[in-house]
Amino acid sequence: MTAAIEVVNVGIIGGGLMGKEAAAAIARWPALLDHPVRPRLTAVCDVSEGALRWFERMETVTTTTTDYRDLLADDRLDVVYVAVRHDLHEQIYGDVIAAGKDLLAEKPFGIDLAAAARLLGLMDDHPEVFVRCASEMPFFPGAQEALRHVRGGGLGQVIEAHSTFSHSSDLDASKPISWKRQRKFCGDAGVMNDLGMHVVHAPFHLGWTPVSVYAILQDLVPERPDAAGALVPCDTFENATLVCSVEERGGAFPLTLGMKRIDPGQKNTWSFRATGMEGGVAFSTRYPKSVHVLRIDRGEQAWVELEMGSQSVFPTVTGSIFETGFSDAILQMWAAFLAERAGVLADRFGCVTPAEAVASHRLWTAALASFESRAAVDVPFAEHRSMGGPTVR
Ligand SMILES: NC(=O)c1ccc[n+]([C@@H]2O[C@H](COP(=O)([O-])OP(=O)(O)OC[C@H]3O[C@@H](n4cnc5c(N)ncnc54)[C@H](O)[C@@H]3O)[C@@H](O)[C@H]2O)c1
Repeated sequence: MTAAIEVVNVGIIGGGLMGKEAAAAIARWPALLDHPVRPRLTAVCDVSEGALRWFERMETVTTTTTDYRDLLADDRLDVVYVAVRHDLHEQIYGDVIAAGKDLLAEKPFGIDLAAAARLLGLMDDHPEVFVRCASEMPFFPGAQEALRHVRGGGLGQVIEAHSTFSHSSDLDASKPISWKRQRKFCGDAGVMNDLGMHVVHAPFHLGWTPVSVYAILQDLVPERPDAAGALVPCDTFENATLVCSVEERGGAFPLTLGMKRIDPGQKNTWSFRATGMEGGVAFSTRYPKSVHVLRIDRGEQAWVELEMGSQSVFPTVTGSIFETGFSDAILQMWAAFLAERAGVLADRFGCVTPAEAVASHRLWTAALASFESRAAVDVPFAEHRSMGGPTVR
């Protein structure tokens, strides 16, 4: 006899780029084999009627609205995914939590540390609410293989690690400004708010929590045209390079975090590389089929290329030798979110926890102070210790 499948009604607030991606992932749910939960997208909110029109193609959607409070008042909704500007995170995430709905929140989980900490405090008042933050890159099969290798002790004593996310969509200085390029909407942390969760998710899950940081932040394009063509301030940092110190049993090692909106030649690349006294591992979404593993044998060192197929954390109908991509990673992230919510994630890789999201903001705040002072800055660290263990609802 097969176990009953739990149907979960999902609502989306923010039907832009990521809201549509989430809807498409839910529509592709039958690709998952034997997942214990079946999400059904029933309600969507966006302040733009144009954005809402796209969701008319989703047959399960019965509510479209420009007021997100309509979703919060809907007793049939179990889970809300929110993908809006960073300056709106705190208000909307807080209202979702206060309404008792489970939340998959887009990064950076509040515009800054104070907002994230307040949200964490609100969660204490609503312990029944399950909250996780989005970050899909480590769900690429190659990333999972690399993380398995590290967790399995394949590195020995860690020598160094790098986690980077790069694109170059801001290389064209004549590209019109958007909310993502303005401090008041994106946050003081700039690109760290935009791309930072992608680079800390895997290190944090490995228990690699920085105790200090030296940051180089770059504001490469100070002005951009607005919709009318007038030049307006483009006042966010485009690129951030953080050299962090991580303490391990064998001693501290450097963890370099790169977040770049202007990295010529890159389109949307997450890379992870780590070496140790007994081996190494390297993966990049630029070459999604290849994972490189350093093998040390009788004094000889060789980077061996393993070719990955389609299978990640949750098995799918996709042929195991077929290729994988961004939308597959989004589907896997949702599968992990709903499995953890149902209490059946077990030891599989999960989404970013609220404590990890707050820790990321702690790191960005220290990075801003480091850049200001041109010196390494300690990252307040006590709360990080609670991040390594199994995630609990
Ligand atoms: N996980 C990822 O890979 C990834 C990628 C891009 C963006 N993001 C994150 O997703 C979030 C949204 O980014 P995006 O690229 O989808 O932005 P977007 O601008 O494409 O979409 C945002 C949508 O929110 C709507 N909106 C604005 N105010 C609203 C309100 N009060 N109620 C309801 N809807 C409202 C807008 O009309 C717009 O359609 C951000 O937090 C961003 O950092 C994540």
